[in-house]
Amino acid sequence: MKKDFLSITDLSPKEIWEVITLAKKMKKNGQFKPVLENKTLVMIFEKPSLRTRLSFETGMKQLGGNAVYLTGKEIGIGSRESFKDIAKVISSMADTVMARTFQHETISELAKYAEVPVINGLSDLEHPCQILADLLTIYEIKGKIFNTSPYPSPDRRGLKGLKLAFIGDGENNVCHSLALACAMLGIDFVAASPNGYFMKPTIFVKAKQLAWGPGARILQLTNPYEAVKDADIVYTDTWISMGDEKEAKKRVIAFKDYQVTTDLMKLAKNDAIFMHDMPAHRGKEVAAEVIDGLQSVIYQQAENRLHAQKALLVYLMAVEDDIH
Ligand code: NVA
Repeated sequence: MKKDFLSITDLSPKEIWEVITLAKKMKKNGQFKPVLENKTLVMIFEKPSLRTRLSFETGMKQLGGNAVYLTGKEIGIGSRESFKDIAKVISSMADTVMARTFQHETISELAKYAEVPVINGLSDLEHPCQILADLLTIYEIKGKIFNTSPYPSPDRRGLKGLKLAFIGDGENNVCHSLALACAMLGIDFVAASPNGYFMKPTIFVKAKQLAWGPGARILQLTNPYEAVKDADIVYTDTWISMGDEKEAKKRVIAFKDYQVTTDLMKLAKNDAIFMHDMPAHRGKEVAAEVIDGLQSVIYQQAENRLHAQKALLVYLMAVEDDIH
């Protein structure tokens, strides 16, 4: 049966762990067999992209496959062509589809009819591909050695017990996928957002339920200073996500006290890292001294999109045997 990746929860904690481990291995080894030879990925973009397009297209090429770029406008999703017709036609010619859409429902509808795996390359609800790269980054920098790791891993490292503080728009795709991923992997997750910009209740409740087994705390606060206290990772994202542009003025006012500054970073652990999925806005959600400072790992995080996406493609197309 085909496997979709619409939400970070479409992978079990064990599967997330396998993808991260594979990505780490692929990053280390550098050279790869063309395991995706003759495979085609169709990429549909309703919104702009730098990292997502680059990582998927480059990743497919490095593994011997092809990537086809299409804009939502030229396809005419839901207007010129129905979801069913788009999904059936793509399934007849390609092996996987990745879509970046405004509405999450657009991706779910494509997945409903597609006979090939569908990957969420960002929707208004989630950004699971970003979070795979983030977990790889956190694992590289903060992975702790456990004697009894809950997940199988060659070096028995894990992320359980870390604390991640997300400052800013709680109702956004990155925050949602992060909360769910942290819950599954036993990372304490605290979001600090202004009233009216909290995580969607469905996501918040789901994260709390998922966190129960691994024993992670999932909190939504308004106070950024309280949220970052003793955090291992401080994460922020734009105040104005793609699609929110018409609310720009209102949002800049609502979020003005939610900038990640050096003062805020001082409340986190001394060895805390700063993360941002980018595009970043210096002087808005983050001070330049923080994002360009020593604690920032944003370029490692961005590079890891490539390794994580390659591992995901290999995993979904079930060619994980004999990678090197
Ligand atoms: N929350 C941002 C993420 C960009 C990669 C947006 O949706 O625009």
